[in-house]
Amino acid sequence: MDYFPLFTKLVGVPCLIVGGGAVAARKAAALLRAGAKITLISPVVSTNLQTFIADKSLHHVARKYRDSDIDNAYRLIIVATDNAELNRHIAEQAHALSVPVNVVDAPHLCSVILPSIIDRDPVVVAVSSGARSPVLARLLRARLETLIPARYGRLAELVAKFRGKVRKKISLPQARRSFWEGALQSPVSELVFSGRDSDAEQWIEQILDDAKNAQCGEVYLVGAGPGDPDLLSFRALRLMQQADVVLYDHLVAPQILDLVRREAERVYVGKRRAYHAVRQEEINETLARLALEGKRVLRLKGGDPFIFGRGGEEVATLAEQGIPFQIVPGITAASGCACYAGIPLTHRDYAQSVVFVTGHLKEGELQLNWSQLVQPQQTVVVYMSLTNIDVLCSQLIAHGMPADTPVALVSRGTTVDQDVITSTLANMVKAIDGKEIHAPTLTIIGEVVKLHGSLNWFNG
Ligand SMILES: C[S@@+](CC[C@H](N)C(=O)[O-])C[C@H]1O[C@@H](n2cnc3c(N)ncnc32)[C@H](O)[C@@H]1O
Repeated sequence: MDYFPLFTKLVGVPCLIVGGGAVAARKAAALLRAGAKITLISPVVSTNLQTFIADKSLHHVARKYRDSDIDNAYRLIIVATDNAELNRHIAEQAHALSVPVNVVDAPHLCSVILPSIIDRDPVVVAVSSGARSPVLARLLRARLETLIPARYGRLAELVAKFRGKVRKKISLPQARRSFWEGALQSPVSELVFSGRDSDAEQWIEQILDDAKNAQCGEVYLVGAGPGDPDLLSFRALRLMQQADVVLYDHLVAPQILDLVRREAERVYVGKRRAYHAVRQEEINETLARLALEGKRVLRLKGGDPFIFGRGGEEVATLAEQGIPFQIVPGITAASGCACYAGIPLTHRDYAQSVVFVTGHLKEGELQLNWSQLVQPQQTVVVYMSLTNIDVLCSQLIAHGMPADTPVALVSRGTTVDQDVITSTLANMVKAIDGKEIHAPTLTIIGEVVKLHGSLNWFNG
């Protein structure tokens, strides 16, 4: 992050603007809304600025800029003249005095940049492209403008009005947060947006009367998909933003973890093949214990929690103890990898069924129902298959699958590092010999793999 977003209080604070054109006028208007005490230096000024000068909203110095005009009493300097040399000179002076400076259209001279803002005072959303593309930031702002109702600020005021009362009635912080999330997703918001503030207040009073000081939290068992954060569901994202604590494992990509509420405590319970950082029973117990402490516990799992994810065991423990939970499906690796590799798992011409199996050893053996796998017109997807791919391929051939059946090995599917190796049952082991293959990997076996050549669209 090149620029750290920070909201600063400017009420009554001296700020300097050098320049008198349309851009200076826009910056002056924004600073005036924040209550800044503006001095503006420019021999000539635009019509908008004349209005501010006439109603004494700002102090105008009607002449060219002089070096003695700047000092460190200013908390912000905006430079918006059409003289690039002068702009650079003022920026250098400001840097020497350690006064934050913004030079219009010259990001390299700026120590601060001014974001595009959506003003729903006291709610303010700031959008920045890190000085890369102000137009992009403005377009995003325009989209957000349409999403955030004009009376959003009024809603914030209403929350502020009831905060003390809610705090008195609901002592547990988690329960309080839960109350507000429920209240703000109830008709209260719509009542405020439609101008019926007193009805909204009555509604809050009512739900506050009904509110129990709930002791028990909740567990969200959420499928995070195979890697690409864009594949998360809206519901997954919403619950990720509400969690107090998150338990995650190595299949959850860092970019996905970044989307979890910043304040949430992060607990790594990663399970890698042959190395279980935390035993499954311990994970089950931890989920229950944290929920019983009143926390919203996010159990974030790669792919889908109910496909080779032991999600069933985790919620079974919760169900036994009467702990509330929700389960959010995720895109399983088979779907994600197949789509991103351009391999349809079923296809009218090649496969009318698909089976998902695990290549994990049980008691040192690949205990698969081989005859069920060796069926015509069927795609077989094997999770956790890389270590035993030699046994897998040879057993399938031994059980009657043609040796020239196409096979794809998808590594780190759906991510920018995705790699797809295609071969046949007979040759796959040779095809990957000596290659560095990164986990996680998934094997897809069947005629549909032939389509990869023509349908491959994702370059990572
Ligand atoms: C313990 S299983 C979890 C499966 C997960 N619950 C799902 O629905 O995808 C882990 C296996 O999923 C597969 N897998 C998960 N993410 C993958 C990805 N991005 N690319 C390839 N394979 C993946 C690999 O076979 C890996 O060994």
